[in-house]
Amino acid sequence: MPQVSFAADIKPLFRDIDISHMKSFGVELDDYAYMSNPDNANSVLATVSPHSGEPPSMPPGGPYWTAAQLALFVQWQEEGYQP
Ligand code: HEM
Repeated sequence: MPQVSFAADIKPLFRDIDISHMKSFGVELDDYAYMSNPDNANSVLATVSPHSGEPPSMPPGGPYWTAAQLALFVQWQEEGYQP
């Protein structure tokens, strides 16, 4: 299986509304340069992950990412942020 890629696998996890809403907060979900910065990727992952029994903070009210989607994002990080 090819490595997880931002263009093919990660960017499609974000809806148009996610991308457009977050741009006004300086969070560039569709921008490889932004997302491949580990600090930014970890911040994004934290917002879409459940925390101690609480639902994720993003997207507000859901739909929340599935365990498979979260795992895919982590795999992308572990494989070195392939474009
Ligand atoms: C570091 C990452 C992020 C930060 C700091 C952040 C912060 C925020 C803040 C402060 C708001 C407005 C207040 C609110 O409605 O709760 C907001 C709205 C929103 N965020 Fe994020 N967010 C991040 C990542 C994400 C991600 C990864 C997604 C989608 C997967 C997302 C989807 C949305 C949507 C759809 C809204 C608009 C909700 C609405 O107006 O109904 N955000 N975000």
